[in-house]
Amino acid sequence: MLWLGIESSCDETALALIRMTNGKVQIVDDQCISQALLHKPFGGIVPEFAVREHSKNLPMLMQGMIKRGSLNLEDVEAIAVTEGPGLMASLLVGNAFARGLAQGLGIPVYGMNHLEGHLFSPFIGREEKLRFPFLGLVVSGGHTILTKVDGPRKYEMIGSTIDDAAGEAFDKVGRLLGLDYPGGPEIEKWAKLGNADAYAFPLSLIEKNNYNFSFSGLKTAVRYFVEKRKEELLEKEQFFFDVCASFQEAIARVIQEKTISAAKAFGLSCIAASGGVLANQRIRTLLEQKALESDIEILIADKKFCTDNAVMIAFVAALFYLLGLPITKSMEVNPNLSL
Ligand code: KG4
Ligand code: ZN
Repeated sequence: MLWLGIESSCDETALALIRMTNGKVQIVDDQCISQALLHKPFGGIVPEFAVREHSKNLPMLMQGMIKRGSLNLEDVEAIAVTEGPGLMASLLVGNAFARGLAQGLGIPVYGMNHLEGHLFSPFIGREEKLRFPFLGLVVSGGHTILTKVDGPRKYEMIGSTIDDAAGEAFDKVGRLLGLDYPGGPEIEKWAKLGNADAYAFPLSLIEKNNYNFSFSGLKTAVRYFVEKRKEELLEKEQFFFDVCASFQEAIARVIQEKTISAAKAFGLSCIAASGGVLANQRIRTLLEQKALESDIEILIADKKFCTDNAVMIAFVAALFYLLGLPITKSMEVNPNLSL
């Protein structure tokens, strides 16, 4: 079955075409336009600009696919579009586009949960590894979630963030260090030149049997620290690199500790991890090391499927369809959709 996936929940416009045959996915085309450069000067996403870009980019991406010969609209059998969570205005553009297209082609359109897209993305191209239950870890700009996945749509929340999401902490610390938005990839780049043990930033809620996350205290600790040493931040490169590395290390250690201890406590032998923050190599390495030591299998989504993309939206729709789950027809968007 040939699926067209559409993702426009935030500041990435993405379109993907996948074919699902005998439970195996083949990615026919995968396109994404990031608006990061446009939003950069504002230190965050400006919804009006996001809407304008999505409206322009969606038809442009589709025309590109048609021109390249990867997409023949008559062959598409179903459309999957993100209906939430995300920015209301951004979601509306993708959903209007999807519904208009589906109506024109006379095919169904399914509204998908972006978080489920992330949750199942570690299985893209590794479909045979999908077994229930597993421990799902989603770490993105808006969410930090640990959940026991007993089956599709059968989630038992184990922990989540009580304040800032990990990606949000990367973005906010990036801003206070004078880095461009989004802060995550920038901090990772400079952290490579720094010493991760230089400064001991707080590892929030690290105590045993607590699987919730809190990154707001860590962000504040970094703020006070650099405010006190403003001159060094401006003048000493190495100080700046060390702050980046030490901050990244604090996040990595918290994610590592909580994820592995949750897997042990809930008797889960497989972890599936994803979300923009999991594109971070240090976080991936720490998770993989500890999982190996603990004899737990860990599948971390391919880096290109960690950050927002349309393949994961088409994939989760195709998967749920295959598993016989009633997936809803997209009638409206929901910016606050949860797992
Ligand atoms: O999953 P995602 O693309 O969008 C949301 O659903 O939120 O995640 C975006 C978040 C941003 O906060 C960004 O700073 C963070 O993921 N991020 C990273 C890296 N790449 C993206 N954080 C740390 N290291 C990275 N390499
Ligand atoms: Zn996302």
